[in-house]
Amino acid sequence: MSFPKGFLWGGATAANQYEGGYLSGGKGLAVADTLTGGDGIHGIHRKFYIELPDGTKTTVNNRTEEVPAGAKAYVDPDVYYPSHVATDFYHHWKEDIALFAEMGFNVYRLSINWTRIFPNGDDEEPNEEGLQFYEDVFRECHKYGIEPLVTLYHFDCPLHLANEYDGWVSRHTVDAFEKYCRTVFTRYKGLVKYWLTINEININANFMMNGVHEHLTNKKNVEQARWHLFIGSAKAVTIGHEIDPDNFIGLMIAHGASYPYTCDPDDVMAEVISAHSRKWFYGDVQCRGYYPEYKLKELEREGIEIVKEAGDDELLKKGVVDFYSFSYYSSSAVAAHPENIEGAEGNQERGLKNPYLKQSEWGWTVDPVGLRINLNQIYDRYHLPMMVVENGLGALDTIAEDGMIHDDYRIQYIHDHIVEMKKAVEIDGVNLIGYTPWGHIDLVSAGTGEMRKRYGFIYVDMDDDGNGDLHRERKKSFYYIQRVYKSNGEDLDI
Ligand code: BG6
Repeated sequence: MSFPKGFLWGGATAANQYEGGYLSGGKGLAVADTLTGGDGIHGIHRKFYIELPDGTKTTVNNRTEEVPAGAKAYVDPDVYYPSHVATDFYHHWKEDIALFAEMGFNVYRLSINWTRIFPNGDDEEPNEEGLQFYEDVFRECHKYGIEPLVTLYHFDCPLHLANEYDGWVSRHTVDAFEKYCRTVFTRYKGLVKYWLTINEININANFMMNGVHEHLTNKKNVEQARWHLFIGSAKAVTIGHEIDPDNFIGLMIAHGASYPYTCDPDDVMAEVISAHSRKWFYGDVQCRGYYPEYKLKELEREGIEIVKEAGDDELLKKGVVDFYSFSYYSSSAVAAHPENIEGAEGNQERGLKNPYLKQSEWGWTVDPVGLRINLNQIYDRYHLPMMVVENGLGALDTIAEDGMIHDDYRIQYIHDHIVEMKKAVEIDGVNLIGYTPWGHIDLVSAGTGEMRKRYGFIYVDMDDDGNGDLHRERKKSFYYIQRVYKSNGEDLDI
């Protein structure tokens, strides 16, 4: 058998893209609740409605370079927000978990929405209804032998912390996060043992979605926010271990593969520098417990001094993670002189288009071998257990006359990636312990806010304008996954 006994097979979702019920059960607002839909194919970005300090109301797109200081995001009652209902796990959790079990899951990755537990992020007391909701969900998972793998923070900074404290730029957010972590580790002791601290920590500080206003225009703030995210993660690890030594707590990085565009040493060096700043920096800090030399030199060159509290450096060391998890969708190429070379899309790896590879409908480069390369490189560097906690193909699905979604393109994508994981385990000997493909049930896209960009093996009837009765249907890929999972990855034939 190539995949070890007990290998974790499942799927992954995030509260802000799947749960809906955006004000139900005492939940407060998160920044993600203020983000509109967009249109990825036509390049129309998601927007925030914001109010400026002088009372002027305006909008910014979520990839904007100009988020004015003092801006406050808000929900405009006349605007449609896809995440407010999303695909409504909040009211379908029993039915959905039964479907996951039917597919053969023994793990399910989901995130806790911080604002369900602390509606403003920093309230005195937690919201019991929110705590109970997740407790019910975790108990339901265990009924089927499914281990919850819980992300503490997946793109959902409480709006109050973002508007009033500039999110992770402020130490106040770290303190509030610490209290939230302590609360959920305590409540779910014995129910959850697999945890992830901050989803795609390398993307986090770059988006307003995470409460960093003035982000791209103020590098000092970005670096401070990064420090706070690392401290937040290290606190989560230490508190989690203290409350239950059986907790197994990992980091989560968007880790696409990247290649030098050519074998010109200048291109190779450009890729080394880019990979340091886009990926390795985050793993180095969270696996080793200190900032690597290349980062310290960069901060020195830029004259940026991070504000630390006494004990922070020790905390970073103590809070190193138990395992390395990452999302993997695509790869890109890097050149020393990228001018005149066509660019590629992707969630993190927006580099240059690789002439050897094809792209998805959303322009993301499909590269299964890149996953094996990553597994090797990550394992060589850290020698920690690894999980692939996101992977998948965002595609347009159509319902055929027989009522079925024949998503052979998705089956092919998943097949090709599992084959490479298998080689990494069987031939290269890496310690891979789990696989949770992204959005195994249709949900709202984080990047574009679309419903039509679907990753699921389970279809949910909901479109980009909010039409649909939310009923669930098994796609063709559902049955493929079922066969793969139930055979522990041995039966991969398409
Ligand atoms: C990752 C995120 O970046 O990629 C998910 O952790 C996200 O939240 C996923 O949904 C796929 O990206 P997108 O933009 O296609 O939803």
